Amino acid sequence: MEAQLEQIRTEALAEIGAVADEATLEAIRVKYLGRSGSLTAVSEGMRTLSKEDKPRIGKLLNETRVAVTTALDERKNTLASAAEAKAFANLDVSLPGTGPFRGSLHPITQLQDRAIGILRRMGFALADGPDIETEWHNFDALNTPADHPARNEQDTFYLPDGRLLRSQTSPVQIRTMVSNPPPVRIIAPGACYRRDEIDATHLSQFTQMEGLYVDEGVSLADLKGTLDLFVRELFGADVKVRWRPHFFPFTEPSFELDILVTAGGKSRWLEMAGCGMVDPAVFAAVNKSRGDDAYDPERVTGFAFGFGLDRLAMNMAAVPDIRLFIESDQRFLSQF
Ligand code: DAH
Repeated sequence: MEAQLEQIRTEALAEIGAVADEATLEAIRVKYLGRSGSLTAVSEGMRTLSKEDKPRIGKLLNETRVAVTTALDERKNTLASAAEAKAFANLDVSLPGTGPFRGSLHPITQLQDRAIGILRRMGFALADGPDIETEWHNFDALNTPADHPARNEQDTFYLPDGRLLRSQTSPVQIRTMVSNPPPVRIIAPGACYRRDEIDATHLSQFTQMEGLYVDEGVSLADLKGTLDLFVRELFGADVKVRWRPHFFPFTEPSFELDILVTAGGKSRWLEMAGCGMVDPAVFAAVNKSRGDDAYDPERVTGFAFGFGLDRLAMNMAAVPDIRLFIESDQRFLSQF
């Protein structure tokens, strides 16, 4: 039996050393260690051995089994790493990989950030207000009477409780003054909503930026200087601007500021912002809500302005259809 075990061991190790694939290796394992394998047969033959022989042969059997098992495992590892090396043999790790897709800020966000940057350098602080507004903040306090067409149900989204999706950022003026005494100098960018028919230049949601400056002695010259500088910072020193008289319920006098844009050799005036001197009726509404006279129109004056970012962004990037801004198409967005 000793000789038999010795022979099994020599044969097995030789066969294992010569194997080149895992399937053959598995066949060898079965041949020696399987249920009807030769080592299993030997171990079954142990029963016939004498008491004196049993321990010696048992030990030898065990050693043989360990030797074969170890050789099988080692061979298996060697074959696996050889296969891996072969798979990577033609891989050029110095080739540039496929980089991760890098997103960018939405063009309207980019424009908004630039505008905020310019106005903050001029001393304006950021203010905020809710998208869902009361009629009082969005209209009444802004001197917009109940029969004003802007308050029509066809123009604005009303909630069942009477509140509405703000149709402009101007209610932030009211919120700021109600909770802060003068001087205030704020800008308020944010979403606005109107029941517009959706087409290439209209969406039911758009973005505005509001501005308000109230202090003693604020004049129309300050308004003009501020917006002239702002527009030049935004579009370059040689931008052409035009001031037109206009009407807004919450400013008196009111203006519209146009910039001259040139595309394809043709120039035209683009409405850029509405603005004006805060109407004393607005201060009166604020004072009434505050319960004091902090915004006494005999003592303080102010200017306000507001402009839409979507139309401007469209113009600056020659975007033909405003709907592209909300379609989240990467082919469009990755250009900015
Ligand atoms: N809220 C106005 C609009 O949506 C824009 C506007 C005009 C804002 C004049 C102002 C302003 O602050 O003074 O059309």
